[in-house]
Amino acid sequence: METENMIEKVENIINKDEDLETRLKDICLLLNKELNGYDWVGFYLVEDGELVLGPYIGEPTDHTNIDFGEGVCGQAAEREETFLVDDVKQEGNYLSCSPKVESEIVVPIFKEEVVGEIDIDSHKKARFEEEDQNMLEEIAEMVAKIL
Ligand code: SME
Repeated sequence: METENMIEKVENIINKDEDLETRLKDICLLLNKELNGYDWVGFYLVEDGELVLGPYIGEPTDHTNIDFGEGVCGQAAEREETFLVDDVKQEGNYLSCSPKVESEIVVPIFKEEVVGEIDIDSHKKARFEEEDQNMLEEIAEMVAKIL
């Protein structure tokens, strides 16, 4: 994975003269298309104290509204840190979107407090590593500037 290259592509999307929704969806499309095993890529945005599903790529999910503390997404928001799950079957506090999912990474987006997150599901076990975390945290910082 060429992180530099991905960061540059995300930067280009962020600087486009498009509305927020289009740019967030384009970032999802980019990550899903370019990175192997990024099978579901989406944004949750904090609205009225809960996580609300925003633009995404992948199968539709029932989990459109998630409380802080609930599931992997809610735990990442509550702890205010990236949550990496190598095997979702071993995670007790997990909300399943599809039986195909094996691993997940959730990266909070901060504007002083958590204002949203990037959520990625993979059909491969232990798909996400430190390199993915670093890249996604950098993307989250870039996205924070347009929220
Ligand atoms: N698995 C997440 C729910 C969101 S779906 O992955 C799209 C969770 O446990 O919070």
